[in-house]
Amino acid sequence: MTAKAEYKVAVLGAAGGIGQSLSLLLKMNPLISDLALYDIANTPGVAADLSHTNTTCSVKGYAGEEQLADALKGCDLVIIPAGVPRKPGMTRDDLFSINAGIVKNLCEACAKNCPKAILNIISNPVNSTVPIASEVYKKAGVYDPKKIFGVTTLDVVRSNTFISEAKGLDVNDVDVPVVGGHAGITILPLLSQTYPSTKFTAEELEALTVRIQNAGTEVVEAKAGAGSATLSMAYAAARMAEACLRGLSGEAEVYECSYVASSVTDLPYFATKVKLGPNGAEEVLPVGDITDYEKGWLEKLIPELKASIDKGIEFANKD
Ligand code: NAD
Ligand code: LMR
Repeated sequence: MTAKAEYKVAVLGAAGGIGQSLSLLLKMNPLISDLALYDIANTPGVAADLSHTNTTCSVKGYAGEEQLADALKGCDLVIIPAGVPRKPGMTRDDLFSINAGIVKNLCEACAKNCPKAILNIISNPVNSTVPIASEVYKKAGVYDPKKIFGVTTLDVVRSNTFISEAKGLDVNDVDVPVVGGHAGITILPLLSQTYPSTKFTAEELEALTVRIQNAGTEVVEAKAGAGSATLSMAYAAARMAEACLRGLSGEAEVYECSYVASSVTDLPYFATKVKLGPNGAEEVLPVGDITDYEKGWLEKLIPELKASIDKGIEFANKD
């Protein structure tokens, strides 16, 4: 890495399961000069703890709504993992009633205090929270579709892991694009585009696709009521944040899959590979060539994803 530490990054929900691990990983990132840790409570302790690590980045805690504006001012990137996680038996959409309002309020503050910052939204249901954030920015007159990203990197991280294990490949070499959205069948891993080129039997295709779609639930069930993925999510969010900052710094050829404003399908938001640059999403890449098996999943996911998008847009505009 050649770029200097020059970016201010805020984590909203920084005292939570994802927030704390993610903040540690960001504190180790040489591109970040200032880390602002915001939550409704407990961030002074998290920030004091992290501030003792001897990395270049300086860290400050902000607790309570009255400190939110200060946390956001001057930010280049804001990462939002604020909100409640799932318990066994719940879908991500079951979190909408609580998390939609949290994301809406936080995005209103971002639109006011750092309208040009890139947003990385982790809070579920991502399929609806990204449309909510976009509507908030439109209402505030500061919407730039290149700046708002739903974080779907964990789906790629999982696909790379599961496929390398199943096929005996070096996990460091494997790259599997994941398109669609981030919930159940809206998660569509494109195994036919696996790098390096890999052959799968019909049984392998079905088992791996379904496992990737249900991987979040696998963790929720293993945690048995104590929440959902936090460590793997922090890892994935740190990877996405680094890609956004490398893009901002002018590095060429930086790509990640992400759920963004898109004209790749008839839906207004869709996850595909995105080229990251100085303005955020410089280019949203097409789905590319897919098999009939993948086309079948794509047809099935469209109505479900559309319903989640419509729900988010309606919520954001209801008053
Ligand atoms: P958590 O309960 O451990 O932490 C959430 C934090 O958000 C808490 O510290 C809480 O105080 C804070 N919070 C609540 N309301 C807030 C507000 N108004 N402003 C600021 N902070 C607020 O939960 P977690 O395990 O860290 O998960 C957080 C979210 O991330 C959940 O919605 C979960 O579903 C989602 N998630 C998404 C992905 C993904 O791939 N996109 C992966 C894992 C989890
Ligand atoms: C995940 O994919 O792990 C997250 O979306 C959390 C969840 O509820 O499954």
